[in-house]
Amino acid sequence: MEGKTSELRVHRANFLGGEVSVPGDKSISHRAVMLASLADGDCRIDGFLPSEDCLATVAAMQSLGVSIDVLEHSGIGPESLLVHGRGMVTGAPADDIDCGNSGTTMRLMSGILAGQNFASRLVGDSSLSKRPMNRVIMPLSDMGARIKAEGEGGSAPLDIRGGMLRGIRYELPVASAQVKSAVLLAGLFAEGTTAVVQPVETRDHTERMLDLFQVKTQVEGREITITGGQKIQPCDFVVPGDISSAAFWLAAASASPGARLRINDVGLNPTRSGILDVLIAMGANISSVAVGDDGGERFGEITVCGEGLRGIEISGELVANVIDELPIIAVTAALAEGTTEIRDAGELRVKETDRIAAVAKNLRAMGAEIEEFDDGMRIRGGAPLQGACIESYGDHRIAMAFAIAGLFAGGETVIEDAGCIAVSYPGFEKDLELLSSPADKGQEESR
Ligand code: S3P
Repeated sequence: MEGKTSELRVHRANFLGGEVSVPGDKSISHRAVMLASLADGDCRIDGFLPSEDCLATVAAMQSLGVSIDVLEHSGIGPESLLVHGRGMVTGAPADDIDCGNSGTTMRLMSGILAGQNFASRLVGDSSLSKRPMNRVIMPLSDMGARIKAEGEGGSAPLDIRGGMLRGIRYELPVASAQVKSAVLLAGLFAEGTTAVVQPVETRDHTERMLDLFQVKTQVEGREITITGGQKIQPCDFVVPGDISSAAFWLAAASASPGARLRINDVGLNPTRSGILDVLIAMGANISSVAVGDDGGERFGEITVCGEGLRGIEISGELVANVIDELPIIAVTAALAEGTTEIRDAGELRVKETDRIAAVAKNLRAMGAEIEEFDDGMRIRGGAPLQGACIESYGDHRIAMAFAIAGLFAGGETVIEDAGCIAVSYPGFEKDLELLSSPADKGQEESR
């Protein structure tokens, strides 16, 4: 394997395993920086994910006048931060706020900015500028914010004029933790109570973190209520490893008979750990042990003993839990015996790229049989994969999923535009080398 800035070359690996700690959870890192910035005092965040997406959130809060010091750097970037919270009082940004590729930054910041008594403008890269923003604009406008989407069909740039919000009760039309979080964050600044009702359970990091920062919320079934005007108390926070990053290694090890893998200090929040259930249902030998519960977020170890896998059906409520893992699940399905069908996953079409189309095109290029549906795909597994030229479409999870596919393919797999991996997993290439041993390396050594 050799990586250039924007191209990653992967060859078949005949062994995969070892021990790894993946970088911090992306969803939790965003929320930790946002809530710490609004807290009434200093908060230390350890295990922060220094990826491009999360650094966009740091820059966004800094542009609102929040001072953030880097206490420690790791090999991949700033990992310990000291955030000097401004106690719900932010300042107007001097310029546009650049959210880069990050939907979480844009949608959650919209919620915060909707509550501010000044004008702001959120911009993003070409992918983010195509993603649907009406899903946050509608509820935030109902609360009293004036938001104009300058892009086509309700997309960024977003021009936000906030302040004077009133609480609403909002039934989410899509299962989205980002929309839920945007409305709850706006609810902090609103008069009265704000309630959000989810159609299915989505990741609950915002609710858990609000609780940690001593903001009272009420959770009754799928309805979460928050009362405006509460203070956010400062506290320190350790971000666990990202199970969505771990998913690439879990899938690769599960599909490699004989591989032994251990992942340490990884988040095991039940609204995110569906990937373990999916791989186990496919026949994987996986166990997980929780070793702690820092800041209300369970974390622990996951071990895998590689065995053969079989196809399964994935649909319904499980989909929201594994939404970010579906590209690597699709690759795993191509390596399994039998057919895997993924349905109810239309949201994949509005991620960093259309992930159904991207997975289908790239799996076909590698020789797999795949049928595309509006809301999912059917993959017939078991055919040998061939190395191919893979288009990432600038989407980090497509690039990483197909780097894993390349470990199982004959010849060379070239991932184009692989620099996007830094959006969520700086250090991915290093871990890929650590955990896999190219098929020809062993032969060379035994000569
Ligand atoms: C996220 C929620 C999900 C997920 C994204 C991160 C979050 O998006 O796909 O990677 O941090 O809240 P949606 O809210 O659009 O489902």
